[in-house]
Amino acid sequence: MKFEKDTFPSLLPALEKIESGFKNLPDIRYDSDPESVSAILLEVAERLKDNFPYFHPFYAGQMLKPPHPIARLAYMLALWINPNNHALDGGRASSIMEKEAVAELAMMIGWKDHLGHLCSGGTMANLEALWVASKLNPGKQIVASEQAHYTHHRISEVLQLPFQFVPCDSRARMDCDALESLLKQGNIGTVVATAGTTATGSVDPVPEIIQLKTKYNFRLHIDAAYGGYFTLLENLLPETRHAFDLLTAADSVVIDPHKHGLQPYGAGCVLFRDPAVGTFYKHDSPYTYFTSSDLHLGEISLECSRPGAAAVALWATQRLLPLIKGGRFAADLAKGREAALQLFKLLRNDNRFLTLFEPELDIVVWAPRANKASEISKQSRVFFQHASAADLHLALANFPDHLVAGHWPKVDLNQSTVTCLRSCLMKPEHLEWLPRIWDKIKTTSEVIHSVE
Ligand SMILES: Cc1ncc(COP(=O)(O)O)c(C=O)c1O
Repeated sequence: MKFEKDTFPSLLPALEKIESGFKNLPDIRYDSDPESVSAILLEVAERLKDNFPYFHPFYAGQMLKPPHPIARLAYMLALWINPNNHALDGGRASSIMEKEAVAELAMMIGWKDHLGHLCSGGTMANLEALWVASKLNPGKQIVASEQAHYTHHRISEVLQLPFQFVPCDSRARMDCDALESLLKQGNIGTVVATAGTTATGSVDPVPEIIQLKTKYNFRLHIDAAYGGYFTLLENLLPETRHAFDLLTAADSVVIDPHKHGLQPYGAGCVLFRDPAVGTFYKHDSPYTYFTSSDLHLGEISLECSRPGAAAVALWATQRLLPLIKGGRFAADLAKGREAALQLFKLLRNDNRFLTLFEPELDIVVWAPRANKASEISKQSRVFFQHASAADLHLALANFPDHLVAGHWPKVDLNQSTVTCLRSCLMKPEHLEWLPRIWDKIKTTSEVIHSVE
């Protein structure tokens, strides 16, 4: 296995180009000690060998996707300047690039007008969205489905707002009847819908939630940290397509470029439909905001210092791979989804395995077949270990018994949760590699049965 290094030489001319922008300044004498740097870098490289191969198609586990080479290089390139996108004082070009890249993300969900910015990741982005929601609906409850990311419950605690889980249907999507029952009780200020849940990639029924919004007048925040980019795809189920078409009706949306946007960590993005919510961010900074009367990104974000390099990387990636339907970015994302559908079919047609439901995005949940929940959980953990030893890296996830009950009527649910295997097929290469991944799954199953 070799890393992609073909694009690496393009770093030097680009670096020299930035250098030429500062040629009127006198030279600096650097005391950089290249020999020690090289020795320590090799030590670091030795340490970094201790990792799962997240960048390889045989890594088919957690939500981990390698950054695009252009993102890696653009990020690195920006580090010679190390801009800080808090204020135009600290990052001029990169702040403008951030606004342009974020505007493209907003356009992707159909928003020409918006307020938005990058931040460290999905947690911070959701915190900002729910903080704004709390300003608009002080003291009112936040609700999210029981399959929503754990962050929403925790953020509600941070904001000291009451929180409730909404039960899910058998495909891990918010149950709208249950939501309406809660809405009837009153005091719900914000509904968090998830477009791409962490465990199964399920998409909450946004059209029905929007109908309820008209009736009960709550704020709708959509956590599309994982799923947001899937709005570019054609190969979605009709109801999923419909849900993505209506992201535009949300009050706020979170999309994480560091999940499916080919970016290094940390790159999250929060978007607000109404730019007027910017007033909640209003604060004085005695130290910054002096170099320009234009809006400084720090004036509309909770974090202060932020890596301009993240904005540069995102801008460069979107320049190479525009966020358009039918474009190369969308085609690559569609390959992961196709791989997930194919893996799901293979597993469903093989009686050694159990599956839950057809993936809505690119995450497949499955387990070795057994008669009891406890045995399925044990076998999933055994499979996870054996597959890893054979260089196929999967993930594990726990599901409540009521979620699996309808799919596995013959299984004795003798415990409240079932541990399953989970595969996020996020890389386009997963499609081409699927036959080899499937071979490894079959071999792992045979090895486990031969030692039992
Ligand atoms: C749907 C969803 N929301 C929020 C988050 C949190 O994002 P981050 O890990 O970038 O903070 C995740 C992480 O997996 C997620 O899947």
